[in-house]
This record gives sequence, C-alpha cells and structure tokens, in this order.
Amino acid sequence: MQIEQPVHEETEKLIQQALELKKQKNAVILVHNYQRPEMYKIADFIGDSLDLSREAAKANADIILFCGVKFMAETAKILSPNKTVLLPNLDAGCSLADMAAPEQLMKLKKEHPDAAVVTYVNTSAEIKAVSDVCCTSMNAVKVVDSLPDKEIIFLPDRNLGKYVASKTNKKIILWDGYCAVHEKLSSGMINDLKEKHPDTKVIAHPECREEVLQISDHISGTGGMAKFASSNSAKGFIVATECGMAEKLRQDVPDKNFYSFSNICSYMKTITMPLVVNSLMHNQHQITLPQEVMVKARKAIDKMLEFS
Ligand code: 13P
Ligand code: SF4
Repeated sequence: MQIEQPVHEETEKLIQQALELKKQKNAVILVHNYQRPEMYKIADFIGDSLDLSREAAKANADIILFCGVKFMAETAKILSPNKTVLLPNLDAGCSLADMAAPEQLMKLKKEHPDAAVVTYVNTSAEIKAVSDVCCTSMNAVKVVDSLPDKEIIFLPDRNLGKYVASKTNKKIILWDGYCAVHEKLSSGMINDLKEKHPDTKVIAHPECREEVLQISDHISGTGGMAKFASSNSAKGFIVATECGMAEKLRQDVPDKNFYSFSNICSYMKTITMPLVVNSLMHNQHQITLPQEVMVKARKAIDKMLEFS
C-alpha cells in the first residue's frame, strides 16, 4: 500500500502555481531522487544524475528547471546550450564538487602524462572541460573499462574511485575527495540498524566508505536501488545514502520497508517550493557558462553518454 505524504495546504497551492507556470512558460522540471517529496509532484522526470542528463539532452522545451544541485544544472546547460536552465537556489552546491580545482587536476595530469582523466559528474564545468570523459555512479566501471588507457586519474570521490578500482584491472590514481553525507555512515551504524531489523538487506551508494560497501548486499547509484529492492525477496532494506532516497524508494516500491539514517544533503534541500515558483516566475537563477568551457566539457559528457 502506498503511503501518501500529507502535503500542507500552502504547499499544495504552491504546487498548483508551479504546475501552471510550467505550462505557461513551456518548461520541463527535472528532479533528482534526493529532493523533497513535494518536488516529485511537479516533476516531468525524477531520476539519478545519469538519467537526468539524458533527459536534459533531449528536453523539448524553452526552459529546463532543475530541482537538484548546481553541477546537475550545469550539465543540463552544457547539453542544451540554447535553452534557459534555471536553478531555484544558487546555494545548491555540492561539497564533493568543491573538492576539485582545475589547477590541482592540471598538476596531477603533468605527473601522470599517460593517464586518462575520468571525472565524476559531481564536479564543476571547468573540471569537466579538462577531463577526457565523465561518469556517474551508475556507469563509472563501464566508462573506465571502455577506455583504451591502462592508467586512469579518477576524481573527485575516493570511495567511488576505490570501488571502481576493485572492479577493473586498470591502475586507478585516486583523488582525495569525499561526500560528507556519505562519509558519515559507518559499518557500526549499519550493523546497529541491522540488529533492530534483522531480516533486511543493505543497499549502499558507492560514495560510501569501503567498510560500508563491504557489508552491503547491493551497491549502486540512486538509479539502481528501486530495481534491486523490487526484485529481491527481502521485505526490508537499509538504505545507505542520503536520507531522501528512502522516501523515494517507499514511493517506488510501496510493498517494502526502507530504513535510513538522518544524513541529509543540505545542498539538495535548499530547493524549496516557494523558490521553484519564484524561479519560474522571474526566470531565476539562469545558469551561464563560458562558451569555451561548455564546448570542452560537452566532449567529456558526450563521451560518457556514448559509453553508457
Ligand atoms: P546519483 O547519480 O547516484 O543519483 O548520485 C548523485 C549524488 O549526488 C550522490 O550523492
Ligand atoms: Fe554532493 Fe554529497 Fe549532496 Fe550528492 S549527497 S549532492 S555528493 S554533497
């Protein structure tokens, strides 16, 4: 049975307003899985980073409004440069993306001249522009294996990088970045929750630490979690990722139970319904990037889309 979340009357009015404005302005609204549940109600598409970039590339609208974080909106702008791309709150950054600066990468490239650069999409457009190919949590192993190069500089997430290294024969040169939301989770926390819910399976995002991944039954980006939960015989799942994902899974797989932790991505949650309405009303905040950066970054994103 699907449990509908009660929506406050004021929020319901704003939802209706957002839906009307979306129609008037010929906009599409792309929503990441970690967003607040009320955002699902205005979405044309809800998904992970990979599917959202595919949707952005094929969007047939004048405006793409992104309910997600800045690197996702930038990816949409790079893939649809002639469209207006809006991010309702410019504070929707990503602490992981902030851990990689282009100068650092240029230095590492000089130290490893034969290595290809595989860049997680959780990075700035400037970093993408000096990378060979991008990847997401869903296709990182596939992208690395598709390259002819034997050495790979993988950035910025060290946990995803280690996970990729465990699945490939290539030499992976790790970057020392991490997502604070995922880094916070420990094997002790998972085991404690498992003691309370013994018949559960553990689903973990590859941004989690190695000790968490080692005791997980399934490792995937947010896009693969619902599929595993619905096809597995277990009735309950511990979800080791940002807590909003458990809410999404409850909606997608309503006959199963999902248990999560209170690890919130405050960046994702800076997007609120009043800000979405304001964004559609005033075309705020438009994502703009230098042309040269967009052209170079697009090559790395297109290459990822070809591989996956
Ligand atoms: P996904 O691509 O798996 O949705 O992950 C995005 C993200 O920011 C994880 O922290
Ligand atoms: Fe960035 Fe972590 Fe938030 Fe994902 S959960 S957007 S990696 S800070």
